[in-house]
Amino acid sequence: MPVDQNNKVHTEMWNIAPHVVELKSSIIRDILKISSQPGVISFAGGLPAPELFPLDDMKWAMGKVIDTYGPAALQYSITRGLNELRGLLAQRATERGTPSEADNIQIIAGGQQGLELVARAFIDPGDYVLTELPTYVGAIQAFDYYRARYVTVEMDEEGMIIDQVREKVEKYHPKFIYTVSNFQNPTGITMSLNRRHQLIELAKNYHIPIIDDNPYGDIRFSGDSLPTLKSIGGNEVVALRTFSKILAPGLRIGWMNGPKDIMHHFEKVKQCTDLHTNTLCQYLIYEYVNAGKLEPHIELLKKDYRAKRDVMLKTLKETFPSEVNWTEPDGGLFLWVELPTHMSAKDLLPKAIEKKVAYVYGSPFHPNGGGDNTFRLNYSNATHEGIVEGITRLADLFKANI
Ligand SMILES: Cc1ncc(COP(=O)(O)O)c(C=O)c1O
Repeated sequence: MPVDQNNKVHTEMWNIAPHVVELKSSIIRDILKISSQPGVISFAGGLPAPELFPLDDMKWAMGKVIDTYGPAALQYSITRGLNELRGLLAQRATERGTPSEADNIQIIAGGQQGLELVARAFIDPGDYVLTELPTYVGAIQAFDYYRARYVTVEMDEEGMIIDQVREKVEKYHPKFIYTVSNFQNPTGITMSLNRRHQLIELAKNYHIPIIDDNPYGDIRFSGDSLPTLKSIGGNEVVALRTFSKILAPGLRIGWMNGPKDIMHHFEKVKQCTDLHTNTLCQYLIYEYVNAGKLEPHIELLKKDYRAKRDVMLKTLKETFPSEVNWTEPDGGLFLWVELPTHMSAKDLLPKAIEKKVAYVYGSPFHPNGGGDNTFRLNYSNATHEGIVEGITRLADLFKANI
């Protein structure tokens, strides 16, 4: 019996599937727990700045939704997503260089669900997927569940090194190429235009789809804007997009933009996951975006995050030892730090927490191990003063342990 007469649960008797027992809980969630202790300056999460959430506009939009759609806003709705919202997102993509129609769009409960649908649709146990190194930890989690194996490709300041992609594609025949091409989580690196073209050409030659996970593409605050992989690669690419970073993650609304002939597979997979995405929030976002409120809001975010990035980069430059290197992102929420190879960011984290500052160490972003000397810093969720103070404390820690 999984439960005895005393109501004690015998976990070993529950026959939970072994691959589920083996799944690791997200290290970031664990670190967030520690770093949310009072007084800790946290660069660990990937949280947008809460003071910028457009509460008044959301209140207005919610009223409009209830007045306009009434009970329909609270009813079940179709798996593919509200036609109005899909049409609007297709139009937005078209205006930005990716000709799209509503039939290209699948509404999802955030980008993370897109990863889950991709994993379900593509991965049989033991299949290879090709990712950047390092890569987004949530993607590793989603792919792990389906028992993927990983081939990884190193990056330089222009993104994935294409020769390595070619070599590994030929050797391992991965099911798809997974990239976060804009202001990557965790490194902040953006794939250059040249590399985008090379990657698309390679994917076409080898008939491998590209999954471009793109939560941050709209948050560019310096450098020249680049065409998305989707706009270059067309049907070669499935783009995963989300309102989490450009509006509010709690709404749990994102979208996929992919080839019309493929989308019904994601739709089927989504149907057995959750029937459909939250109807109310889809209407809410539709009204918000349709009223022209999204783009000015993104401008506000860019201004705020740019200033925070600048403070972080300046403080890093002023305080960190010269042996330490870091990226300088042109957008997004993160930058990436490399300590000398003999140092372990994981081992140093408890000491950082003692100093009341937190980061996410880099090893979980490395699906095949490694990256011990690396860590990720988030700048969107801190104040300017917090950034200066927290980075200075980290600098003291690294100087003492170098
Ligand atoms: C690269 C990447 N993909 C997906 C997600 C998941 O985002 P969402 O809140 O849309 O599920 C994140 C969130 O941090 C991310 O950085």
